[in-house]
Amino acid sequence: MKRRIIITGGAGFIGSHVVRLFVNKYPNYQIINLDSLTYAGNLMNLADIEDKENYKFIKGDITDEIFVNHLFETEKPDGIIHLAAESHVDRSISDPLAFAKTNILGTMILLNAFKDLWKNNIDDKLFYHISTDEVYGSLGSEGLFEETTPYSPNSPYSASKASSDHFVRAYGETYNLPYLISNCSNNYGSYQFPEKLIPLFINNIIHNKALPVYGDGNYTRDWLYVIDHAIAIDLIFHKGKLTETYNIGGFNEWKNIDLVKLLCSQMDTKLNRKQGASETLITYVKDRPGHDLRYAIDASKISKELGWKPTVTFEEGLTKTIDWYVSNADWLNNVTSGDYLKYYNKQYQ
Ligand code: NAD
Ligand code: DAU
Repeated sequence: MKRRIIITGGAGFIGSHVVRLFVNKYPNYQIINLDSLTYAGNLMNLADIEDKENYKFIKGDITDEIFVNHLFETEKPDGIIHLAAESHVDRSISDPLAFAKTNILGTMILLNAFKDLWKNNIDDKLFYHISTDEVYGSLGSEGLFEETTPYSPNSPYSASKASSDHFVRAYGETYNLPYLISNCSNNYGSYQFPEKLIPLFINNIIHNKALPVYGDGNYTRDWLYVIDHAIAIDLIFHKGKLTETYNIGGFNEWKNIDLVKLLCSQMDTKLNRKQGASETLITYVKDRPGHDLRYAIDASKISKELGWKPTVTFEEGLTKTIDWYVSNADWLNNVTSGDYLKYYNKQYQ
């Protein structure tokens, strides 16, 4: 079937992997990448597919209602995969309103435009909202997030994502809008902006800079290779049951400090440094306010119902990720110059 799909946030980290997968796998689909190119969006992420006939980039802001309505009327998308967001927890602590604007208002504007475009003609239409496991709050040392776990967000970022999830569901109930939601754990891989733990620490190790571990480093995250997230998104988009939520995770929990030590060791090997050299850069710094202790996903639903499981082990994924950042110094240098330096100095002063 020929489809017209708008992917929002397609120039960002996960979005660029999703755009690439859809453009290459579905030559008969028209893929429209809608992105405002904030500091986190970068068209270099898509240089390899920018000339494909079934791909189009449109620069625009999802919080601009007039623009979004006009775009939907002209492009008439039958599917939306919505990834555009402010995505970094630390930034949400210093500028919460920006997160409310993009993540809540932006999502509502897209929902409204999609609802108004199709009114009662909803067959084969789909609004697929990409969300996070952070909406569930924090786990203690036991248990896993299930699709039925009550929402309990702790940061302005996760509160804004939780709110957007609720609006998607509310549009489904109230206006019959066909929707799906997935909530994923921490992603890692190529093209991730180096403000997030893994690329930040890789970049700092390359430049022999301190590795700022928050608090005691005993916080736990469940890590998933970004391409496995993109594969899950493809499956859910095509085979997910309308109005359902799917949790996606890596079955791969790591305490931050253990992960950082593994990363240090792999970086020493990659950079031909003496084993132990990078670990000396570890510096314990002031904790993140409201820092969630542990995230861990029960991904058995997507596994049983849609047959998804991660294709890449953590060791393989981390090696591929390190190789990519070390051989893409231009990309790293390009995104870490300019405004990012001001952010970095303020965050880690
Ligand atoms: P990212 O910050 O790398 O990319 C976000 C993209 O959205 C950028 O290209 C940016 O330019 C664009 N954008 C931001 N504001 C916009 C606006 N107002 N209008 C149009 N475009 C705008 O984010 P990411 O890490 O790729 O995350 C993508 C989505 O996945 C987000 O919704 C995030 O909440 C969710 N998610 C991320 C992770 C993770 O580990 N990174 C895990 C689970 C869920
Ligand atoms: O769980 C999914 C979420 O994962 C996504 O929704 C978010 O968009 C994404 O940013 C990520 O959130 P985290 O806050 O878990 O990711 P981050 O890489 O910022 O931090 C991972 C852990 O490392 C967390 O416990 C905080 C810690 N940390 C992070 C940074 C940036 C440090 O100790 N030092 C740091 O400098």
